Amino acid sequence: MLNLTGKNALVTGIANNRSIAWGIAQQLHAAGANLGVTYLPDDKGRFEKKVAELVEPLQPSLFLPCDVQNDAQVEEAFATVRDKWGRVDILIHCLAFANKEDLSGDFSNVSREGFNLALDVSAYSLIQLARAAKPLMTAGGAIVTLTYLGGVRVVPNYNVMGIAKAALEMNVKYLAAELGPANIRVNGISAGPIRTLASSAVGGILDMIHHVEQVAPLRRTVTQTEVGNVAAFLCSDLSSGVTGQILYVDAGYEIMGM
Ligand SMILES: NC(=O)c1ccc[n+]([C@@H]2O[C@H](COP(=O)([O-])OP(=O)(O)OC[C@H]3O[C@@H](n4cnc5c(N)ncnc54)[C@H](O)[C@@H]3O)[C@@H](O)[C@H]2O)c1
Repeated sequence: MLNLTGKNALVTGIANNRSIAWGIAQQLHAAGANLGVTYLPDDKGRFEKKVAELVEPLQPSLFLPCDVQNDAQVEEAFATVRDKWGRVDILIHCLAFANKEDLSGDFSNVSREGFNLALDVSAYSLIQLARAAKPLMTAGGAIVTLTYLGGVRVVPNYNVMGIAKAALEMNVKYLAAELGPANIRVNGISAGPIRTLASSAVGGILDMIHHVEQVAPLRRTVTQTEVGNVAAFLCSDLSSGVTGQILYVDAGYEIMGM
């Protein structure tokens, strides 16, 4: 049985009730995990208030600001985790960002700044957070990140985020190789398209979803809960022999050639 009782799970990337991280947090909570939630702070504190209200029913024992572009804030967040929990068992990396103008039109128009921003927030951050979590995963651990098919094939408009996801997927493998001896497993979920705040920035996202609904073997796309269930599996002992993998949760779309 899938049981995460007694596990400390740090979840990044909840922005609202459409967030994939929200689907994951709910399933980890249902499996008995003790949750810590991080959020991206903004000047007016709107995100903080919104996310705090949303996650309140899951009674997270930690609720921390964590902008991955702010090294001092990340350090502070993990210092608090160390002081309050002592040990981390699960890390959910569920965040990405690129400028909207870099998510449509000609791929080659991406600026150096736009490229670096997308790669920094969406790919480097996994290395950064894994490095911070590593010394706290004293009883082994599971790290799960979120990727998309656009990291291995060309998907119109996904553009620079495809390059970031390609880097992210290789991060999964290099981190899995490094952290395996400490019994820390690192895996990715490649989710089918879901309507969220982040995906709304990708040009033609509704057409993408419609296409998947027509072509995927299951004739639909997936839900945040379905992704959450697989994340819970990847964080549990049921997947104790699995690391360095990208698991498709996409209603089967990835297998189709035409
Ligand atoms: N929605 C989809 O169709 C889909 C499909 C496959 C993979 N994904 C991936 O799932 C993950 C979650 O995205 P989502 O679709 O749930 O959208 P979302 O907008 O709900 O989540 C993105 C999160 O990234 C966070 N974020 C952005 N910049 C940050 C920073 N500097 N520091 C910390 N956090 C930051 C945002 O606050 C937000 O919580 C992303 O990696 C995304 O690429 C999404």
